Amino acid sequence: MRVLLGVTGGIAAYKVALVLRRLVEDGHSVRVAPTAASLNFVGRATWEALSGHPAPTETFEDVPSVAHVRLGQSADAVLVAPATADFLSQMASGAARDLLGNALLATEAPIVVAPAMHTEMWNDPATRANVATLRARGVHVIEPAVGRLTGPDSGPGRLPEPDALVAALYGVVRGEGLSLSDASLPWGDLAGRTVVVTAGGTREPIDAVRYLGNRSSGLQGFAIAEAARERGAEVTVVAANVTLPLGEGISRVDVSTAEELSQAVESLAPAADAVVMAAAVADFRPAAVAESKLKKDGSGGMTLELVETPDILAGLVASRPAGQVVVGFAAETGDDAGSVLQHGAAKARRKGADLLVVNEVGGGRGFGTVDNTVTILDSAGARVGEASGSKLAVAGAVLDRIVERLRTE
Ligand code: CTP
Repeated sequence: MRVLLGVTGGIAAYKVALVLRRLVEDGHSVRVAPTAASLNFVGRATWEALSGHPAPTETFEDVPSVAHVRLGQSADAVLVAPATADFLSQMASGAARDLLGNALLATEAPIVVAPAMHTEMWNDPATRANVATLRARGVHVIEPAVGRLTGPDSGPGRLPEPDALVAALYGVVRGEGLSLSDASLPWGDLAGRTVVVTAGGTREPIDAVRYLGNRSSGLQGFAIAEAARERGAEVTVVAANVTLPLGEGISRVDVSTAEELSQAVESLAPAADAVVMAAAVADFRPAAVAESKLKKDGSGGMTLELVETPDILAGLVASRPAGQVVVGFAAETGDDAGSVLQHGAAKARRKGADLLVVNEVGGGRGFGTVDNTVTILDSAGARVGEASGSKLAVAGAVLDRIVERLRTE
């Protein structure tokens, strides 16, 4: 296949010479487009010698062949490695400042991006938002590996090893997404972890056709599942009445009622490293379900008797295996008795989950909206994080907190 290899200005560029070599050895035709900044780390001669082709940087090099369009159009797959924070920003904004930026806009081939930078830069909200934007557009963003960085510091931000980058590219080309079947690959801070996510809203039948439900769309739970998968986890979603599709490589169990959701979670949770209860579970269900459709009886009203459903989150907290991280969600509204956060903190202490993601709902916020704003509390009700933006950005913040807790097991 024809591969466009973009190299941007990070010290990890040296590792990409080995990626190029491996791709060429595997019989692929590789064109390298290094950015000007990247030439500070690895010179053009290396790319040209290893690829056997010119390695232009600027849009105005080789103008007669319209290289800025041809490079992108003729590629079957694109890999950008390392991708700097600045380059992610350029890509997310759609800017075309140099040859690589132009080529990325001109291509219809799948794009795999391997960011590498210092942990603080990777965690910066601007970078998180850019990554979320790119993922939402279908760009495959590989999580940086965790480990030693350029200086004495360490954390997430390392460029994965060359073989892992090549495997990621091949997985995407085969249509498998960022295949993580080989858990030994050093990418993803959730690699080798099992995550169970509940999503959507339960429906409690009243009669043959009616139910008690809620407006949860499942978008936030699905975003958490997709992001956990991209970070290397084995993910199972328990989806309550969600019609949305899920990304490849994610297991799915469809349920409808709180009772069904409870049973699914009970069977999956013991083997999980983290359980995220993003589903809006009914607190009450009708005491009896009429087999046929209830009719008006002429009395001008009717009373429905409700009974409480089991609190699944409480059950999880009570029976969790050592080291498991349990995450609850709380959709709250402020009222005379307290603010959204006060209610959230009280719930965090009451529920005892390791993390409680508090979300203000009502007035059009929260349910179904594409963007979301949340505060993340620990089991004592203390604020340990917050996020706003797309549901994928929120998912990233929640997963960051989960990863921190899994690391300190
Ligand atoms: N939850 C659950 N089982 C239930 C109800 C809720 O596991 N029967 C979970 C939800 O998935 C969510 C968390 O508990 O992660 C908080 O849900 P919420 O309905 O806000 O909590 P309640 O305990 O019902 O609190 P409230 O007193 O506000 O009704």
